Amino acid sequence: MTEQQSIHGVWTKRWTFILAATGSAVGLGNIWKFPYMTGENGGGAFVLIYLLFIAGIGIPVMLAEILLGRRGRASPINSMHKLADEARSTPFWGGIGWLGALAGLFILSFYSVVAGWAVFYVYLMASGTFTGQSAEMISGEFGNLVSDPGRLVDWHTLFMAITVAVVANGIHKGLEMAVQLLMPLLFIMLLVLLGYSATQESFSQSLAFMFRVDFSRLSETAILSALGHSFFTLSLGMGAIMAYGAYMSRQQNLASTVVTIGLLDTLVALVAGTVIFTIVFGNGLEPGAGPSLMFQTLPIAFSQLPGGVVLGTIFFVLVTAAAWSSAISLAEPAVAWAVETLGMNRGVAALIVGVLAWFLGVACALSLNIWSDVTLFNNNIFDFFDKLTTNIMLPLGGLLICLFVGWVMDRAIVRGEVDIDHPTIYRVWFFLVRFVSPVGVAVVMFNKLMG
Ligand code: PHE
Repeated sequence: MTEQQSIHGVWTKRWTFILAATGSAVGLGNIWKFPYMTGENGGGAFVLIYLLFIAGIGIPVMLAEILLGRRGRASPINSMHKLADEARSTPFWGGIGWLGALAGLFILSFYSVVAGWAVFYVYLMASGTFTGQSAEMISGEFGNLVSDPGRLVDWHTLFMAITVAVVANGIHKGLEMAVQLLMPLLFIMLLVLLGYSATQESFSQSLAFMFRVDFSRLSETAILSALGHSFFTLSLGMGAIMAYGAYMSRQQNLASTVVTIGLLDTLVALVAGTVIFTIVFGNGLEPGAGPSLMFQTLPIAFSQLPGGVVLGTIFFVLVTAAAWSSAISLAEPAVAWAVETLGMNRGVAALIVGVLAWFLGVACALSLNIWSDVTLFNNNIFDFFDKLTTNIMLPLGGLLICLFVGWVMDRAIVRGEVDIDHPTIYRVWFFLVRFVSPVGVAVVMFNKLMG
């Protein structure tokens, strides 16, 4: 083996990087967050802006981020130190890694709480709680969950435990199987739901809501939210994809990989949104209901489908699996760094990261009920961590990645690493990374922060 390897190993099969990166990208961001954000931000115009950000910023940044990992061959923090050194620049660039590891910890905290909801819904579905219930009662069930601190913490704890267990064992083993088997099943289940939606009268209303562009319905914060979400959903700006890139073999074509992941991720989000809004409009629910949206709508569809108890149970198992393969990648940058630099045992590192995120997660869970009047910058703790990471830390990480790849790294190295054969495509990508993405992110972020 002449190729330089990361100490954590290299993916065993060619496809594994694509699967792992897709597993990281496809998660609660697509099925839970994208639909409710679309609902809160008025529909079509938000979707259009989000798609533009994915294509113009997200996909180019993803390529840049993988490139950094594949060249650095280490945890994001150490990769950035190495590459800054190689470019004879300041070690300050290691900050990208630090910012990312911290963002991963913060996201993992509220992510695990929401994933806990999905686990709880597996139980609700399987126990037939929703059978024969009215839409109103089904959507009301969610309120019972979030007002109960004990239940929230229990399911959050369970989810965190299964995440730590996989990270501790090295991400290769569990992940490869889970992603190869469960991700395709999730797609199939979403298609089943889409088929069901297409038979409903409110389907056309849902399509109109999602795809008819009406800028007058765009809320003030929508542009920043769309930008932040394009990073969140593609797992960008915090080193997850960089860490996975470090385990990627050199033979693989980066550009086509990145486009594939971007398309799959977007498809899942659009299908989930279309299904959810069909149910929203068909049952007189509120599109702007917020984070409860998915949990209040999808069980209604399952209660009406033949075999709904089984299908619904499987569906929430798959959502849990999707969340789990994303959660693993949230912990990976911090864990990989602790293993490399502190010489820590992988299990211990995973446990420490998991326990830290668990504590923050408990605070997020309690902020939905008994601590609801505790606010940080006008947000409850849950929203604070969500907005801090999605709207600030991830775009900032992405901005710094673009500046590093576009302006600091040696051009010949960048060119050699991306191996885009077509000169025009390469130039377009490099232009996007050098100018469009950093300027776009800076304008949107600072505009909002100043305004
Ligand atoms: N992309 C994941 C999702 O959509 C969340 C995530 C964000 C994972 C950032 C890793 C890093 O659910």
